[in-house]
Amino acid sequence: METKFKVLLIGSGGREHALAHSILQSPLLEELKVFPGNGGFDPALILPSEKISITNKESFLSYLKNSGTNFVVVGPEDPLVAGIADWCEEVNIPCFGPSAYCAQIEGSKHFAKEMMKKAHVPTASFAVFEDHNSAWAYAQKQILPLVVKADGLAAGKGVTVATTMDEVKEALNDIFIEQKFGESGAKVVLESFLEGNEASLFVITDGKNFMCLPAAQDHKRAFDGDIGPNTGGMGAYAPAPILTPSILKQVESSVIIPMLREFREAKHPYKGLLYVGLMISPEGKANVVEFNCRFGDPETQCVLRLLDEDILPIFHQASTGSLESRNIKLKNAASAVVVLAAKGYPDAPMKGLPLEVPPNEGSVLVFHAGTKWDGGKLLSSGGRILGITSVSENLKDSLQQCYSHLDKINAPNTFYRRDIGKRAI
Ligand code: AMP
Ligand code: GLY
Repeated sequence: METKFKVLLIGSGGREHALAHSILQSPLLEELKVFPGNGGFDPALILPSEKISITNKESFLSYLKNSGTNFVVVGPEDPLVAGIADWCEEVNIPCFGPSAYCAQIEGSKHFAKEMMKKAHVPTASFAVFEDHNSAWAYAQKQILPLVVKADGLAAGKGVTVATTMDEVKEALNDIFIEQKFGESGAKVVLESFLEGNEASLFVITDGKNFMCLPAAQDHKRAFDGDIGPNTGGMGAYAPAPILTPSILKQVESSVIIPMLREFREAKHPYKGLLYVGLMISPEGKANVVEFNCRFGDPETQCVLRLLDEDILPIFHQASTGSLESRNIKLKNAASAVVVLAAKGYPDAPMKGLPLEVPPNEGSVLVFHAGTKWDGGKLLSSGGRILGITSVSENLKDSLQQCYSHLDKINAPNTFYRRDIGKRAI
């Protein structure tokens, strides 16, 4: 008899709501439980916090054992960096997500740069410093723009693309003097500036074999026209035409294959999702800007909508070392996601905003992020609130459907970008 999966999905964002939607379509699914979830999930799927902890190993493993969970899918980076996949391995429960060693690819920019250097992966030149004075002395000799990065996890806030020496000084000050990033700012990576267009490529891998999902383009700045502060992402579309088949080939041979080999040689095969953040130069050369050890948010919300096959066995094969290297089945379509955010996001988002969201219509699916139910009312509980997604034959129609659905959402004190995907239509 075919194995049926009792899945525990970890996370609370729009990415996890989209992952849950895909997992729930699987005929191989016996049961899905989610922790901590958000207001968009069927409450029956959500585990109460008395039942599970994802920061305490004993309590986590005891939940797995008592519940009969036979597959864990991890959305966000923090539990991966803390070693949740290693805990699962100790009790022989497959986990979609890399080990703590491999998750350093996101948890430490220094680790990622050293790994890229060893594997000869194209990326910006860099230097690493552990104190303010030596970093500042080096920075003054560099050409601008200069990119200043806190080494560790900083919830997307640790990177400054500095165009003046004053900005470099301020960024170094924040890291070393103000210690805004705590331990994550114990080291700084100073990097040369890469020019071009960014694309996010998601690679599912079992450590050796891999499958690439269609590339997406994220919109990181808060406001139309790519202005305002950097955010987690205000919208995305896929496929991103900037990642042409020939650039993808280049990325496979110069980035993915060498990086996976490097991890195997370190005796830590990388299993799960490798997020390759690319900068494509005007001449069509791809450089790596960053790696993440998990799916991107909000890109996942639109990328998953393009898949035309069951994702659950693919995740499982990646986790158990039995993935085939092949093309994933895709719809001949284009998808988009537009994020509705709370006023003040990303610096100081308003919280507890009342939301009225009409039912999904046509190809629109609304994925929740920062939402919660309170006394029968849906309220916002975070900066990014909803991701409105759509899929259709072309990007223009998908975007039009997202925007007409947004018009019907009643949510005072929220905002969204009106130019998502414009550059591709
Ligand atoms: P990271 O967290 O490393 O992805 O950096 C966040 C954002 O900063 C990226 O998505 C880019 O927009 C920008 N960035 C980071 N490194 C560079 C670089 N070397 N050149 C140009 N832009 C960069
Ligand atoms: N949207 C960018 C990220 O997930 O890191």
